[in-house]
Amino acid sequence: MYVCLCHGFTERQVKTAIEDGGAGSAAAVYRHFSCAPRCGKCVPYVRDMVKAAGAPPSAGCGCGEGCTCQDAASGR
Ligand code: FES
Repeated sequence: MYVCLCHGFTERQVKTAIEDGGAGSAAAVYRHFSCAPRCGKCVPYVRDMVKAAGAPPSAGCGCGEGCTCQDAASGR
């Protein structure tokens, strides 16, 4: 299933980015694909996939509003 229609990456590719590529935030997933969100509709889903995978948070992820990466990194 496509996660991002703007860039054409799939759920499987996001999962690989997280599990094998070490992407620990939504921003890291987009970096993995050498892109940035365009319309942004996929961002909550990518963020949920990262959270569900229990990936370790990336420093300075830049996920934006509602991101808990920094909280997780600092143990809050
Ligand atoms: S669907 Fe991913 S940026 Fe538009």
